[in-house]
Amino acid sequence: MSTPTPEASVPSSSSAQPSDAPITAASAAAARTVADAAADKAAGGPPLLRLTELTKHFPQFRQTLVKRPDNPVRAVDGVSFELRKGQTLGLVGESGCGKSTVGRTLLRLLEPTSGKIEFEGRDITHVSGNELRMLRREMQMIFQDPYGSLNPRQTIGSIIAAPFEIQGIKPEGGTRKTVQDLMARVGLNPEHYNRYPHEFSGGQRQRIGVARAIALRPKLIVCDEPVSALDVSIQAQVVNLLEDIQTEQQLSYVFIAHDLSVVRHISDRVVVMYLGKLMEEADRDELYEQPRHPYTHALLSAVPVPDPHKGQKKERILLKGDLPSPQNPPSGCVFRTRCPKAVEKCAAEVPVRTEIAPNHFVACHFPEERQVL
Ligand SMILES: Nc1ncnc2c1ncn2[C@@H]1O[C@H](COP(=O)(O)OP(=O)(O)OP(=O)(O)O)[C@@H](O)[C@H]1O
Ligand code: SF4
Ligand SMILES: [Mg+2]
Repeated sequence: MSTPTPEASVPSSSSAQPSDAPITAASAAAARTVADAAADKAAGGPPLLRLTELTKHFPQFRQTLVKRPDNPVRAVDGVSFELRKGQTLGLVGESGCGKSTVGRTLLRLLEPTSGKIEFEGRDITHVSGNELRMLRREMQMIFQDPYGSLNPRQTIGSIIAAPFEIQGIKPEGGTRKTVQDLMARVGLNPEHYNRYPHEFSGGQRQRIGVARAIALRPKLIVCDEPVSALDVSIQAQVVNLLEDIQTEQQLSYVFIAHDLSVVRHISDRVVVMYLGKLMEEADRDELYEQPRHPYTHALLSAVPVPDPHKGQKKERILLKGDLPSPQNPPSGCVFRTRCPKAVEKCAAEVPVRTEIAPNHFVACHFPEERQVL
């Protein structure tokens, strides 16, 4: 069931508003469709991936004598962004803000509650059956846990060959040869084809996950915290491998991570999420150097600075309180219960995602300029 988006005014300070007429979420979405079409034309075609107001709610039930419906968990609530071919979009935010749910829903591993998912200009929001199976060739996922995501009873050879089997594809030169080539490509010894996952280190297991994900030469990979479980020294190796493969194959990544330094390194664009909603989206350098959302300021203020002089001057913004429940999100701006700048308007009106500078989107009534890094 879709949740109607409450009507909301756009901040009058926004440079993106040409008139004083109030703009609602619905009219903003309609205007975006027109703007998207114009942008596609200017860019020579649609983006590889476009999410429009993507929403995923998980229904809940109260444990009483009679099963009663409760408020759903609003894991993802109206998230919009796009990703161009060959680029990486970093997705950041606190634990539980909905990053993995965005990743799984856009891959159609979860059924969206509402909103639209477009892949290469095609609406894939509700594709099913054979069409969905064909889509799986184009979109893959790399998981956070290199231990849990590999079946301990399968050899590495059969794990990496699985996508071919599922899709009924017989690779040229044979499956074994193709899998061994893939193993070599990700830095694994092809002679270890018949070994089992427990015989590999964490970094090597993640390489197996990468080999499996690129086996069908997809166009998009959602990397869900692919290096978070690895030692720092190994993290760089896996990130470098992902970057090399991206260049070779013109791949696009949605890169989910909580480490803002890794996201800064790998991303072209960055989306900041909080409690299922998009707070800010911009090109990597603009987001890190000129963040405009109070939540982005707080997140970036916690990033360690290598330069000790700069680090001394840096003010750490501590957020009060805990993340509210996505079953009962605050009214108005969902960040308001922890925002140091919240005022009455923030409780009454939902801030709409607004283009505050070219290609820089913020959902805040009072976006501010502040240097935090
Ligand atoms: N299948 C499910 N049923 C009910 N609630 C769910 C389900 N999957 C996720 N959630 C809830 O949705 C919210 C978003 O979860 P999600 O895993 O997407 O967050 P995340 O940003 O990836 O967090 P983390 O950084 O810890 O991985 C959380 O409150 C989570 O408990
Ligand atoms: S809308 Fe208000 S509460 Fe929300 S981030 Fe902006 S200032 Fe803070
Ligand atoms: Mg997650």
